[in-house]
Amino acid sequence: MASLQVNQKERTFHLTNKYCSYLFRVMENGQLEHLYYGKKIEYLGQYDRFIERSYRPVSVGEFDSDLVTSLESIKQEFPSAGSGDFREPAIEIIQEDGSHIMEFTYDRYEVIAEKPKIPHLPATFCKEAHEAETLLITLTDSLTGAVAVLAYTIFSELPVITRSVSITNSGNNPLRVNRLMSLSLDLPDSEYEIIHLSGAWGRERHVERTPLRPGLQSIGSTRGISSHVHNPFLALAKPGSQEHQGEVYAVNLVYSGNFLAQAEVDSYSTTRLMIGIHPDKFCWTLKPGECFYSPEAVLVYSESGLNGMSQAYHSLYNKHLIRSSWTERERPVLINNWEGTYFDFTEQKIVDMAKKAGELGIELFVLDDGWFGRRNNDTSSLGDWFENPEKLPNGISNLAKKINALGMKFGLWFEPEMVNSDSHIMREHPDWVVGTPGRQRKHGRHQYVLDYSQPPVVDYLFKLMNDVLSSARIEYVKWDMNRCISEAYSLSLGKERQGEFFHRYVLGVYALYEKLITEHPEILFESCASGGGRFDPGMLYYAPQTWTSDDSEAIERLKIQYGTSMAYPLSSMGAHVSTIPNHQVGRTAPLQTRSNVAYFGIFGYELDPLALSEEECNVIKKQIQVYKRHRRLITQGTFYRLLSPFEKNETAWMVMDAECEHALVGWYQVLSRPNQAYLRLKLVGLDEMAVYFVEELGQRFTGSELMNIGLILTPPHKAGQDFNIAEKYDFSSQLFTLTKEISS
Ligand code: DGJ
Repeated sequence: MASLQVNQKERTFHLTNKYCSYLFRVMENGQLEHLYYGKKIEYLGQYDRFIERSYRPVSVGEFDSDLVTSLESIKQEFPSAGSGDFREPAIEIIQEDGSHIMEFTYDRYEVIAEKPKIPHLPATFCKEAHEAETLLITLTDSLTGAVAVLAYTIFSELPVITRSVSITNSGNNPLRVNRLMSLSLDLPDSEYEIIHLSGAWGRERHVERTPLRPGLQSIGSTRGISSHVHNPFLALAKPGSQEHQGEVYAVNLVYSGNFLAQAEVDSYSTTRLMIGIHPDKFCWTLKPGECFYSPEAVLVYSESGLNGMSQAYHSLYNKHLIRSSWTERERPVLINNWEGTYFDFTEQKIVDMAKKAGELGIELFVLDDGWFGRRNNDTSSLGDWFENPEKLPNGISNLAKKINALGMKFGLWFEPEMVNSDSHIMREHPDWVVGTPGRQRKHGRHQYVLDYSQPPVVDYLFKLMNDVLSSARIEYVKWDMNRCISEAYSLSLGKERQGEFFHRYVLGVYALYEKLITEHPEILFESCASGGGRFDPGMLYYAPQTWTSDDSEAIERLKIQYGTSMAYPLSSMGAHVSTIPNHQVGRTAPLQTRSNVAYFGIFGYELDPLALSEEECNVIKKQIQVYKRHRRLITQGTFYRLLSPFEKNETAWMVMDAECEHALVGWYQVLSRPNQAYLRLKLVGLDEMAVYFVEELGQRFTGSELMNIGLILTPPHKAGQDFNIAEKYDFSSQLFTLTKEISS
């Protein structure tokens, strides 16, 4: 159970469950002082024993005749700038007179036995009251009338606390919010390594780990999307902590636009961890009576290393973020025609592909880019969301019927945020396109961005998409987004409010998702942004799966999927088997390895099935049976990373069910090595005393054998036998299926 212990006399607040504790108090000046965050403690009261104060020469004093109390060296919950704390603030508000100084002081608290929604924003939720408790702390700035409400939710069964902030202007003059971090957390020390997910198109979310140093270390995005470059995730791990042990503090922002995540180490070796909307170009005007809500930050504390951290995120997102009913349903094995045909297809070709795919056991056919307008390449027709009569003379509806008649579901690709100049929308509504007056509007892949900060644009796109989705049996939608936003400016906002553009854009995207999901709750949505350019918790709230990367190559995917799993569950990662030589890197990994990697995600194919040999078809039929047998385990089970592709030639991971009865283990070797050391793989999380049957080996092991001796991976070699060259090749892999034997 979660509990919220409020000591009114000493004005302390203790959020705790069986995993963690978070403790803070109201200081004598009415501001909030952070006291502790970490492993669960039994708190007796008497916070004063934990207060650290020391005389700091050249610091600014908080109280007259007191030289030791300075905001510069106090750990705070909601620091603002300019009043003696010279670290980066959580909030900055510019007032009528130009001042940016704020002093938020405590007014009241409220405890709620659930988790309130954040208006217009995605956020974690609970389905039943006992699953979480929320503490709302109201602070006011008496001079301006600004009211800040800090929301803290603690989940009962997870080491998770979420935080968000709202600012209401209860004064008489407008306020300009220049910076509002969703979370600011002051940790008492600085001995951490900073971990984040970094990359580029085709190599998203690679794990970066470096020691934390004095000063600021930050990641972020100012591209309008959370981006391929950095992900809104940051962890601080104690040196020596690894996958299975050690303390980790992590934060992930439930947001799909510009973000900043940073750690600042000050002169006294404390660390301020922050995450929120990127302050660059951000400025939100609050007229009297108006309110602004920050996105939600999800804080995880793990004392069982990075796997413990990830498992907390995975459980939270599967149960309390992904709202689609698909989160608990078996996901269909899909085939997407993109790499199979690109723009070059006809209705007949698609039907033939679907027929072949259906024979292999595939359940969903996804028609990707190129089905609409006059789209034969990427220079035209985005925005014209009606079928291309040359390619699909019988329309989408008839195509869907033909595919349904093959026993398969039908899905469709859209890129609703974009237009080409050669499109109806661009010709009829040039004022709906993002761009700065008088300046060149720069293209990205020949396309321009629709101004989703304008509600009529969102309404119009809803109508276009809804018409298509209502006209045919479409059971899956891939929502793509293939460029970053430049020349950011909205013709509808006016000069004072251009700083609101990026956030309003994201709110527009969320509004369209909301409308579509409400109208079509059964549709399975997959988000995408040139692969994984918008793989974030905000998207997962609406779309239960995300196309992890345009790089479908199995060996590249080891790093991408390993890194993505730091914060995101396997149930969210689209992973497909594609053809060889691979289109992104030219590599030719064996078909078995391609599926052994893609199994650990939402499985599908990204190729032309008509080009497969009979032998490949037979292998693929078996692959699909394997996935279907294990897909519930894969999407609902507990995932463990075992060997990191960032450290070794070998990668390994496993997924196990809650009862520790079934597990699937993937092991991969990038390059074959001569005369190499023996290879064995130690598993984790099994029932020590139980006996497990490992299907692929036809052997039985105890859980403790598998965890302590490990699976022996060196191929058997009998004395007198010749060197077996067939067993030695690059990009090899093995899958192991474990079943616990239940003694009768
Ligand atoms: C980028 C996506 O990531 C691909 O999967 C594909 O849908 C293309 N866009 C289509 O233009």
